[in-house]
Amino acid sequence: MTNPRSLYSRPTYYDAVFGGWTAQEFFFLLDCYHRFSPQPLRRVYEPAAGTGRLLAEFARCGISTYGCDLDVRSSEYCIRRLSRFASASDIRIADMQFFRPPVKVNLAYSLISSFQHLLSEECAQSFLTSVSESLVPGGVFILGLQLTPDGGRSSEPEDWVGFRGQSKIAVRIDSVRYSEALRIDECEMKSVIHGPRGRSRFREVLKFRTYTAKQILKTTRRIPGLELVGSYDFTYDLNNPVALDQKSKDTLLVFRRRS
Ligand SMILES: C[S@@+](CC[C@H](N)C(=O)[O-])C[C@H]1O[C@@H](n2cnc3c(N)ncnc32)[C@H](O)[C@@H]1O
Repeated sequence: MTNPRSLYSRPTYYDAVFGGWTAQEFFFLLDCYHRFSPQPLRRVYEPAAGTGRLLAEFARCGISTYGCDLDVRSSEYCIRRLSRFASASDIRIADMQFFRPPVKVNLAYSLISSFQHLLSEECAQSFLTSVSESLVPGGVFILGLQLTPDGGRSSEPEDWVGFRGQSKIAVRIDSVRYSEALRIDECEMKSVIHGPRGRSRFREVLKFRTYTAKQILKTTRRIPGLELVGSYDFTYDLNNPVALDQKSKDTLLVFRRRS
């Protein structure tokens, strides 16, 4: 699947806009793994790996990298990017709901709400089961998502800006339709690229499944292989675990694969 009007299909622009936190996210993933697993980190798997901005950081450390994504352009970019490193890598164009890497991994992670692209409980269960079965016993899974606190979600748009060469990329993500009953938040993502030869615009609609703290606990407790061992927020501070309750918003959940 490639949507030429989607920022997901424009890997260099995507990274310019959303890659600013890569180092902080990477060190959190690494430190978190070592806090919750005594095993050496040899293999990582990122479902919905996109441009491979995070996998590249692991590959640079000699760790084998596995991933999948539905977007063809992003996946091709990711494959090219990882081929520069000596460590093994295997990236497939595949649906994360069903995909399992060819070997079991020590760490799996899914950040910036990619999991919320799965729009039903059935898809979420299938995905979590696939991840759980992709981990070695004692392996770690880190899931980042934007939870809905009591009192509802913010209706404020999210603005992002990035720069690449002489271009400036401005992105606005705005909720355009929300169904509390269906738990689907339909968001419009508008991107404007201001380049030396003028402006181009992209508009796409992204759907996210919403979760309160209670709902994500209910969903993940159905996966017998995964044990919740920690929760943090988007400050990525391992020394500052946070409670998972009705106030929770931007959350990182850490699971360990039961033996
Ligand atoms: C917000 S981006 C995150 C990319 C990457 N994980 C990162 O942190 O930069 C979401 C990604 O999910 C991918 N995606 C959405 N639904 C998917 C699915 N069912 N299976 C695999 N990839 C999916 C999109 O193509 C996109 O690359």
